[in-house]
Amino acid sequence: MAANAVEVEDLRKSYGPVQALRGVSFSVAEGEVFALLGPNGAGKTTTVEILEGFRHRDGGRASVLGFDPASGSRRLKEQMGIVLQTSGVDPYLTVAETVDMFRGYYPKPRSRDEVLRLVGLEDKRDSRVTRLSGGQKRRLDVAIALAGDPSMLFLDEPTSGFDPGAKRNAWEVIKGLAGLGKTIFLTSHSMDEVQYLADRVVIIAAGKIVAEGTPESLMGARPATTTVRFRVPPIPLPDSFRKSARVDGENIELETDDPTRTLFELTSWAMQSATSLDGLQVTRPSLEDVYLEITGEVETGGAVLERP
Ligand SMILES: Nc1ncnc2c1ncn2[C@@H]1O[C@H](COP(=O)(O)OP(=O)(O)O)[C@@H](O)[C@H]1O
Ligand SMILES: [Mg+2]
Repeated sequence: MAANAVEVEDLRKSYGPVQALRGVSFSVAEGEVFALLGPNGAGKTTTVEILEGFRHRDGGRASVLGFDPASGSRRLKEQMGIVLQTSGVDPYLTVAETVDMFRGYYPKPRSRDEVLRLVGLEDKRDSRVTRLSGGQKRRLDVAIALAGDPSMLFLDEPTSGFDPGAKRNAWEVIKGLAGLGKTIFLTSHSMDEVQYLADRVVIIAAGKIVAEGTPESLMGARPATTTVRFRVPPIPLPDSFRKSARVDGENIELETDDPTRTLFELTSWAMQSATSLDGLQVTRPSLEDVYLEITGEVETGGAVLERP
């Protein structure tokens, strides 16, 4: 049996009248990329900060790498890398100086070159922090978290506020870290992020777990209709498709529960008729669809996904 890096049972935390966590239980296996997903105010940061030892729980049990995070154990801190939702580093230090400063806090730091390579900041080693773009600053945050060569990393909304390119970049960095065998505890309100990165997902809303599983199993929990889309071809479709086809502007959409068969029939027809299926696309419901359904916030559309 694989050891668990994190175990949490019946975790509770209130801020005055606000019950931020109302009995949350889950575990994270060693080497896993685990995502805590939920809308704003769900209790993600509260959970992460309890596990990091920055906040105290009101009730329940928690263990991180075999330690109670409330104990403030130095040995635990040495094995944890932390990327806060907002970070403060000295803007007048260079990238290399910043990484070295943090490396100095740990007994067995990772080499500076390797840290910079992992986050793709080798070219920026002599740049001052003030000169970095937002995405580069965030990568420096990850570099800081890696300085001590931790076995476990906490990333609280690591790509919030990123443009799509920077986000892609950060995802590749995180994938790379997962490839090193690190346990990664990620929070996110971004579905595409979790779908791309996580081995396992726990969805929380208003301080309670509302769903958990692999991204695939969460998607499997609802009828998995696949949509096949292509541009309206120059010749009419066979009758067998016309029933289930919907015209959407220049495109035709087919919904199917058996995409292998549908694609076979469709492409066979196209080849035989010497026509092409321009712009052919096959899509499955995204985790975002599932998430909105589960958290019951479909009516508010994307609003819950925005940060205040
Ligand atoms: N320091 C605090 N004082 C009072 N209320 C807080 C504090 N931190 C968080 N909360 C409240 O607890 C709830 C959960 O917040 P948080 O853990 O930050 O959620 P998330 O990270 O999922 O957005 C929210 O209602 C938030 O307003
Ligand atoms: Mg948060």
